[in-house]
Amino acid sequence: MRLIHTVAELRAALAGEHQTALVPTMGNLHEGHIALVGQARQAGRPAVASLFVNPLQFGAGEDFERYPRTLAADCERLDAAGTDIVFAPGLAEMYPEPQTYQVLPPLADALCGETRPGHFQGVATVVLKLFNMVRPRYSVFGKKDYQQLFILKGMVRQFNLPIEVLAGETVRAEDGLALSSRNGYLSARERAEAPRLYAVLEAAAARIAAGERDWRGLEAAARAELEARGWTVDYVSVRSQASLLAPGPDETALVVLAAARLGGTRLIDNIEVRTGLGV
Ligand code: PAJ
Repeated sequence: MRLIHTVAELRAALAGEHQTALVPTMGNLHEGHIALVGQARQAGRPAVASLFVNPLQFGAGEDFERYPRTLAADCERLDAAGTDIVFAPGLAEMYPEPQTYQVLPPLADALCGETRPGHFQGVATVVLKLFNMVRPRYSVFGKKDYQQLFILKGMVRQFNLPIEVLAGETVRAEDGLALSSRNGYLSARERAEAPRLYAVLEAAAARIAAGERDWRGLEAAARAELEARGWTVDYVSVRSQASLLAPGPDETALVVLAAARLGGTRLIDNIEVRTGLGV
């Protein structure tokens, strides 16, 4: 495995490659990330993982400064997972001048974009740059960040990027909590409470699968249960998988998404579900 810090060295290492598979990450890797690397290796080689904590996608007062940076441990895990190249650019390599061109994806201001203005512009911008640096044939993203995956798929489609975007299933702890680098911020008490987010989504999904169509009622019930347990809820929302907008009357493939804070830690999760109608 090679650790590369500059675009020039990366370009040289990947010259002539047509089946490169890329997994962009912000490091502090867990099993969820490693699963994406496995998926990338199945899709194409060389398998490249990028490690870059992207300041553009963090808002003022968010956790950019304290986001865990664990390069040595990440490299060990990536090496063990069969990664060919780790691309870990420094800040000046990624953004040698103030970034003024930004990709403005649709849906960037809804759901997570509502409480994190500019976040998805930052994500889309750095991923577009990584795509141009690595020129992958494949790139793998997790369903855990459902809106991010949706927005990046749209970017690839709308800009005709010659990249196949693959989706990885969410990897969870045994109690259901989706693995996340931010779980490390939770106190022991918060960690014990954290699986409730997924439990509440599962309950909503079960009601949808059983035929419930009152999205507003479902969202309100889920929100109330979380708030009663001390969560600060950004949103719980039933959406169409195809558009990530409110489901139309005939849509059957839905997703329930939520973002909520426990103490100072913001957690997100989602669950895909099919309506019970017509089954
Ligand atoms: P990061 O949070 O490091 O996540 C990197 C990739 O791992 C993303 O595609 C994310 O969806 C996926 N992932 C995270 N937790 C997961 C889990 N429990 N199961 C499956 N996949 C999981 O997402 C980002 O970084 C950044 O926004 C990035 C795309 C790298 C742009 O900076």
